[in-house]
Amino acid sequence: MAFRDTSSKIIIKTIEQIEGIRASSILASQALKEIEPFVKPGASTEYLNSICAQFIKDNGAIAATLGYHGYPKETCISVNDVICHGIPGKYELRDGDIVNIDVTTILKGYFGDTSKMYLVGEVPEHAQKLVKTTKECLNIGIQQCIEGNSLNNIGYYINKHAVANGYSTVYEFCGHGVGIKFHEEPEICHIAEKGTGPLLKPGMIFTIEPMINAGKARSKVDRKDGWTARTIDGKLSAQFEHTICITKGEPYVLTDIEHAYPIPTDIF
Ligand code: MF3
Ligand code: CO
Ligand code: CO
Repeated sequence: MAFRDTSSKIIIKTIEQIEGIRASSILASQALKEIEPFVKPGASTEYLNSICAQFIKDNGAIAATLGYHGYPKETCISVNDVICHGIPGKYELRDGDIVNIDVTTILKGYFGDTSKMYLVGEVPEHAQKLVKTTKECLNIGIQQCIEGNSLNNIGYYINKHAVANGYSTVYEFCGHGVGIKFHEEPEICHIAEKGTGPLLKPGMIFTIEPMINAGKARSKVDRKDGWTARTIDGKLSAQFEHTICITKGEPYVLTDIEHAYPIPTDIF
């Protein structure tokens, strides 16, 4: 099958750019950590957004989503059947909700993009399993981020794991190159054909952000707000996102602040 060769448009970042993107990525991840104690029953998504917005501002950065193609808020907050691009608003979290918060920062001109799931109060086991499997899907995708590997192996193995657990993979929203701009080449599909796409090279930076659905894969965008993407069948959806830099060795997860990565000196 023919595919579009976009490898020539993929920016190979310099060490200086990688360091800048890393700093922005750390800040975005810290916002997700900062917000954690506030994600409780009764908290409105607007309130959670305002805390993240303040944190980003206090650290000398800009929230990349605000005004992006007219998007009105500093974060995306997607609850239950919302796949992505949920607009923070009056909705108050309830016991049993699962919620994704997605933060994109611009620090000194560099973009960092990450999201994770939060469990609100007591969450039913089937929802917990979806969240756990989605995190595994992201990690499986990251394991494919090895120099010389085909880009689409990321999506191939992500979808394989989702299907093995009885879930489906959203194909209408993808990961993306990131760092100098919000959305750069290449597109990272989370369901893809094995062995296709450009080959991974050191200095490439992109997100992996699988959206995994409990039911059907299809999404529908809210007609009124033009953003909120929901599952077509009303079933749950989960998502995790990291920003990854390809190196000549192990993948460098720029938005991971849990494991204290040193800046690899051997990226190239
Ligand atoms: N942060 C999202 C991503 O991971 C993009 C949000 S764009 C917005 O790509 F306009 F909806 F905020
Ligand atoms: Co992204
Ligand atoms: Co994001």
